[in-house]
Amino acid sequence: MTRYADFYRHSIDNRDAFWGEQAALIEWNTPPQQICDYSNPPFAKWFVGGTTNLCHNAVDRHLKTRADQPALVAISTETDTERSYSFAELHAEVQRMAATLQGLGVKKGDRVLIYMPMIAEAAFAMLACVRIGALHSVVFGGFASGSLASRIEDAEPVAVVSADAGSRGGKVVPYKPLLDEAIALSAHKPAAVLMVNRGLAPMDWQAGRDHDWASLREQHLNASVPCEWVESTHPSYTLYTSGTTGKPKGVQRDTGGYTVALAASMKHIFDAQAGQTYFATSDIGWVVGHSYIIYGPLIAGMTTIMYEGLPTRPDAGVWWSIVEKYKVTHMFSAPTAVRVLKKQDPSWLKKYDVSSLKALWLAGEPLDEPTAQWISDALAVPIIDNYWQTETGWPILTLANGVEQQTTRFGSPGKAMYGYAVKIVDESTGEELTGPNQKGVVGIEGPLPPGCMQTVWRDDARFVNTYWKSIPGRLLYSTFDWGIRDADGYHFILGRTDDVINVAGHRLGTREIEESIASHPNIAEVAVVGVADQLKGQVAMAFAVAKDASGLDSDAARLKLEGEVMKQVDHQLGAVARPSRVYFVNVLPKTRSGKLLRRALHAVAERRDPGDLTTMDDPAALQQVKDLVG
Ligand code: PRX
Repeated sequence: MTRYADFYRHSIDNRDAFWGEQAALIEWNTPPQQICDYSNPPFAKWFVGGTTNLCHNAVDRHLKTRADQPALVAISTETDTERSYSFAELHAEVQRMAATLQGLGVKKGDRVLIYMPMIAEAAFAMLACVRIGALHSVVFGGFASGSLASRIEDAEPVAVVSADAGSRGGKVVPYKPLLDEAIALSAHKPAAVLMVNRGLAPMDWQAGRDHDWASLREQHLNASVPCEWVESTHPSYTLYTSGTTGKPKGVQRDTGGYTVALAASMKHIFDAQAGQTYFATSDIGWVVGHSYIIYGPLIAGMTTIMYEGLPTRPDAGVWWSIVEKYKVTHMFSAPTAVRVLKKQDPSWLKKYDVSSLKALWLAGEPLDEPTAQWISDALAVPIIDNYWQTETGWPILTLANGVEQQTTRFGSPGKAMYGYAVKIVDESTGEELTGPNQKGVVGIEGPLPPGCMQTVWRDDARFVNTYWKSIPGRLLYSTFDWGIRDADGYHFILGRTDDVINVAGHRLGTREIEESIASHPNIAEVAVVGVADQLKGQVAMAFAVAKDASGLDSDAARLKLEGEVMKQVDHQLGAVARPSRVYFVNVLPKTRSGKLLRRALHAVAERRDPGDLTTMDDPAALQQVKDLVG
């Protein structure tokens, strides 16, 4: 057996011994009494009896050895600013924020919703929450008032931390009006709103509720707020993600398991050393931002880079200039970003010295071979695909180069990571497909390893029914992805089994988009499917039936309604969810019993053969879709 194969087997066969060893990578206030309590499957409790703190492990722990080393560098090519904080400075800022939140009434176990652009204060807010045992719930800044309102309602935050505006491509995107509208829409009203004023957009101020960060920070300049030692199983945060239904799920993460899992991944997967520099180009609104912009690199004692801006502005060399300037050793991005760069002049890459880079990790969506090959040739470092989910918090499939250097196979995110008992199973029987290259659903046998979701926020039944009951005959976690494993243990991911789509690495539920479109007064019915796209991987495409189609007989009239529908999605969900096209049809393709033929619609929208149509009610419906997409 190779070293990694041994390591993997040990993690599965001697689960508690393996994770007991990993637990030593972090600092505990009280060591755990029991490594894993799986007496109530599928609920796993990790490091039971131990007490620790995520902020302590990310910040305070490093004060002894690296207080003056940069911990966080926040770069914005939107506002042309670079701010660097040493571990000591980060420690001070986090305590100022923690004291401010406490002053606003936030206590252990309370939720704080964070709706912010990629600025350092967002990191202070996240770290401040976990420092005092409050749960953060970060909502992606690209989401609009409707998405925000449903998250406020579900998380019931005591406080919201936000900013006057973000900026994208030089265009200011005001956040405050969206936040005010979301709070107005939500049945739950947070008691306090803390605003970071960047001076980018004017703000309406609601006296008594809204507070200014700069003034409160001044009052807490010398704040000393100790870390609250919490039970390992105390939730650290919730993060909403899309599934099949319209209502996003609050993925709830613990404290001890997550801290250990990240520390272990920094060592075994990223082969990271304290003092090195990590640059993840994601956003704190997504899971990659939580695990690999904020917590993972800081736990490892690295410098982490937060970036606000586009990869192509002021020019397509901007990321490589950051790599050169900060001697970035580890870079993490998404295939779409690489495809965007690939369309630019290749000479941008040659302008900078990127020799500090050890590897580039890519995740979030399938990495196609030409893209992998292009960036591999350009950077001359390993390109490491990794596959995981908001639910798991860290990679399920990749290469653990810290354990053993393994060869990348383009098109495959790699092998099952230690701790994950990955199974490929038959969708209808639940039977395990053990032979090579058999296509099935990618499942994980419980207990899920440390760091994965504990449950759905306030909805244990949904956790069990959604994730653990979808594969017949056995209690198995479903990733809702199709996959195969080859004879050497390399996996290939072949797309989702459910109605989740992936647009430029952003995970969206088609049902959420459908609900938003259907709320337009002139829409009777709508179906949204994800259609393959060269640049973004997938885009959302909508097929709608108008309530009153009498005015829709001209291109201009159809375009006008299409524009209105898109605006509505922008306004309710955010531009990330906007469909690339809204086509108007007379009827949607359905079975005789009235069920939408989603697979057939999807196939035709991608100009593929729709397959068996014997149950279809009206063949003209699909023909019209075919004619429209051309
Ligand atoms: O369908 C898979 C796809 O993205 C989904 C998870 O998205 P999210 O919860 O946003 O988490 C992203 C964490 C990196 C998966 O169910 N996906 C993620 N990574 C890959 C991928 N598909 C193919 N290859 C990947 N490397």
